[in-house]
Formats: sequence, structure tokens, C-alpha cells
Amino acid sequence: MLTRRDWITALAALAGTGLSACSQAAEPHVAIDPLKDGLPFPLGVAAMSGQLSDPVWAAIVRTHFSQITPEWEQKMEYLLLPDGQLQFDAPEALYGFARDNGMTMLGHTLIWYAQSSPWFEAVTDPVRFGRRYDQYISDIMTRFKGRTRAWDVVNEPVMDDGSGYRSCLWSDRLGLGYINRAYEVAHEADPNAVLFLNDYNLEHNPQKRLMFLKLAESLLKAGVPLGGLGTQSHIVASLAPGALQIALTDLASLGLPVHISELDISLKTGRTAMLEVRQNEARQQALVTELLETYATLPAHQRFGLTIWGARDKDSWLRRGGEDRGPMRDAPLMFDDTGNAKPLARTLKAELKRFARPV
Ligand code: G3I
Repeated sequence: MLTRRDWITALAALAGTGLSACSQAAEPHVAIDPLKDGLPFPLGVAAMSGQLSDPVWAAIVRTHFSQITPEWEQKMEYLLLPDGQLQFDAPEALYGFARDNGMTMLGHTLIWYAQSSPWFEAVTDPVRFGRRYDQYISDIMTRFKGRTRAWDVVNEPVMDDGSGYRSCLWSDRLGLGYINRAYEVAHEADPNAVLFLNDYNLEHNPQKRLMFLKLAESLLKAGVPLGGLGTQSHIVASLAPGALQIALTDLASLGLPVHISELDISLKTGRTAMLEVRQNEARQQALVTELLETYATLPAHQRFGLTIWGARDKDSWLRRGGEDRGPMRDAPLMFDDTGNAKPLARTLKAELKRFARPV
């Protein structure tokens, strides 16, 4: 935690470098053409229902994006009440916005180690638990059936250090087969939805990526209806050049569609504030270039889409941590706090042009 003295020292250092205290980009903010124009795949954005009433947010999203991923309101933490009842008002509001604006939806997420519910925790008998598990997946898939292009069925099953697969309520009650079962039940409920396996740090951690790919291979060998791989891409600006290229190429090796599913590029490298803001903003742009250059090398059928984990910097989950306050706040997204396109958005637009069909 930075002390008051640290902040004063940091700001003094910044002043000396001519950098502004806030993470304002070096160049002026400029208007850009719609990011989504001409793309052969969706350009998605994470969203929550409370943002729909914000006219600046809504204008950015309907102008620049063609798909929505519910950031948290289609997860168990929102949908499933302790008594087993389901609530759908918030995700339905997002589906309504998408429908009204000609956008597709990506379902996120059915089964996640990080979330459960008293409705499940109360049941210890594996057979009864399995029935509730199947019923939940089937109910959610059925509710959004025909309106959801794809689903993150199982999210983040690999241990952070890549040494194995996470233990969680689902694996405790059903064994590691909870993963296979989720895809089988989901496919039965909505055979047309593309079913993804989604995880993070696959670019930062080769061992984790290896375990992720091993899991995907085993699911395919077992005949599980796995339809694609999601690499979340929550990246830090200090990521070594070339790591994205290696990771994406590796992930595409199974021949499945690859979804860059939750892109943001944090300027905060570690716990220190962003004293090297200008260098990090240049690194952000270089990483977007590397990501899209590599994505372009994948066969068209494997380019499922790109989703950015928020519209404006202030919408980012990275700005909700207690320590991310004050002048050194993070700037991981394409639009700044006032809704202006940042130079990073211009870099993204330039890189997306390599995919664009003539409008
Ligand atoms: O908006 C409500 C507020 O009204 C309420 O007072 C408050 C306290 O209950 O909760 C607020 O909602 C929170 C929401 O974020 C909006 O801030 C939820 O509790 C909180 O759980 C939710 O966190 C989300 C998190 O996943 C857990 O679902 C983040 O927004 C979201 O960015 C994050 O996204 C995950 C992906 O699903 C998986 N990959 C990693 C990524 C980042 O952690």
C-alpha cells in the first residue's frame, strides 16, 4: 500500500518527467470510425445493466461494439437465489439492449469455481446434487436459448500455477467430471450455442496454458461438445514481447475457434503506481498490435471474436479495487473516463482494419 509520502514522492517524480499525474495519453483524444465496422467476427464488450441508463456508455457501445458479454449478471451470484429461485431481470435488460441495437450476446458464465450458492452447498448427496447441477445448467441455457451465440460453460478450471485443476464445490461433489457434464447438459439444452472453455493468464503462464490445452484435448477425446477456447487476455503492460504470439498460436493448435474473451491491458505493472505512464501506454499499443497481428494468422474459422472487458477506463473492474484510486488510476481500456477514444483505440482500429471487409 503506498503511503502518503510515497504518493508525494511519486507525483514529484512524475512532475520531473513532464508526465501528467493522471494517465492522460500523450497524444490528443480523437474521434475514430466505429471499431466494429466491416469485421467478420463480433467485437464484444462486457456490460452490466446499471450502465444502460448512462447515455455516454450507451453511445460508445452501440457505435463501436457488436456483441455483449454480461459482466456479472448472468453468473450464479446474480441469477440463483438461496432458495433455488432464479432472477433474470438484469440479464434480460442487457439482452433487450442488444436486441434493440442489432448486437449478439455471449453467455457468461455457467460454472465457475469462484461462485456457488447455498442452494448447492446444502446438498451433500452426489446424486441429488447432480440433479440440481443439471437442472441449473438446463434452466439457464433454456432461458436464453436461441438468443445466445455462445457460452462460457466452465470458467477458470486450471490452477493458477498450472499444476492441475482447481478443487471447488463442483469437483468435490461430482469429481472432475463436473466439467464434461456441464458441456453435455448445456449442449442438450441449446444445441446451437457454441460452448467455450475460458481461462486467464494463458499468455503470462505457459504451464497454465499447457494444462488448459490438455483439458481441452481430453474433453474433445471424450466426445464432449466443446466448441471453442476463450483466452481472457487480462494483460499487464509489462508482458514480454512475443508472449501473446506464442500463446495464441499455441491455443489455436487444437483447431478450435479462439475467443479473445476479456481483453484489458493494465498499465499497473505489479504494485507500483504508473510512474512510467508514457512507456506503458506505448507498451499497451504494441501489445494490441501483436495480439491482432497474430489473430490474423489464424484461419478464419478460428477467429471467433474479440471482447474487451469494458468500454471506458472507469468501467473497468481494475478500477474497483480499493488501491486503485487517486491520480495513478489504471487505464486498461479503449475509451477514457469521459468517453473519448484514446490513442489505444486508434491503434485497435488500425489493427482491426486488417480483418475488415469493405463496408
Ligand atoms: O453493482 C453491485 C452493487 O449494487 C452492490 O452494492 C455491490 C455489493 O453487492 O455489488 C455490485 O455488483 C458487483 C459487480 O461486480 C459490479 O461492481 C458484484 O458484487 C461483483 O461480484 C462483480 O464482480 C465481477 C466479478 O467478475 C465477479 O462476478 C466483476 O464486475 C467482473 O469484472 C469480474 O469478471 C471476471 C470474469 O467474470 C472472469 N474473468 C475474470 C474477470 C475479472 O475478475
